[in-house]
Amino acid sequence: MADSRKTAIVTGGSRGIGREVALRLASLDYDIAIVYVGDPNEAAETVSECTKKGVRAIAYVCNVASFEETKETVNAITKDFGGDSIEVLVNNAGITRDGLIAMMSEENWDSVISVNLKGAFNMIRHTSRLFIRNKCGRIVNISSVSGLMGNAGQINYSASKAGIVGLTKSTARELASKGVTCNAVAPGFIRTDMTKNITEENSELLKTIPLGRMGEVSDVAAAVVFLLTSPYITGEVLRVDGGIAM
Ligand code: NAI
Repeated sequence: MADSRKTAIVTGGSRGIGREVALRLASLDYDIAIVYVGDPNEAAETVSECTKKGVRAIAYVCNVASFEETKETVNAITKDFGGDSIEVLVNNAGITRDGLIAMMSEENWDSVISVNLKGAFNMIRHTSRLFIRNKCGRIVNISSVSGLMGNAGQINYSASKAGIVGLTKSTARELASKGVTCNAVAPGFIRTDMTKNITEENSELLKTIPLGRMGEVSDVAAAVVFLLTSPYITGEVLRVDGGIAM
């Protein structure tokens, strides 16, 4: 049953940055559709925390790298929440498979490009008609400073995140006249499961961060919400990196 609330789709919303974004959007009275793979308990926890804020929340298991699965999932979200309600898409799902270029396997290249870059394309591809029909849409894609500066040992990841910048700007230009904005956030080192091997004791890393600390998921989520609630900003890439890539 559809209600009068707007709906936000958050990929990778089961944990980490995506969970924090989902919770903030729930606090802003958005119904939440989480798209994820992996641990169902993590997804159930996000759903439970969102519903405690008085909104509807549903988690969908879906590999964003798959054109067909994302199509089916957007159809399911449309059925569950109502196509008219879908206003926000946050493309946050991402993976790393780091390695030096001389040793990187084809599989590790393909999987990172497929999840991080094609995943965002797939989700925009299947939601864009809804946004155009609704004459309103807010898209935020999660890039990375690795995509802006490059990072040794991360050619697949930084290529995918640089690709997100181009995808964001082209989508912004293409859909601006339809009332749809598309922006990106480029985080630096944020404390999540993805970066659990990096510790604050690693002073070499800290030296590269002008603000002298790793970021928190709340730092990134605040920037995502800022862009989602700024109707006159489109095609922007907002760094949330403690100054690393200035
Ligand atoms: P995380 O590893 O804690 O969470 C990743 C989320 O993506 C999970 O919910 C997982 O279910 C989902 N996911 C992974 N593969 C998927 C797939 N094939 N289909 C659907 N969902 C999938 O990651 P974290 O740290 O929260 O990162 C979120 C985003 O922020 C990623 O795009 C990451 O590249 C980006 N980022 C993270 C930084 C960090 O320091 N943690 C820095 C810069 C960017």
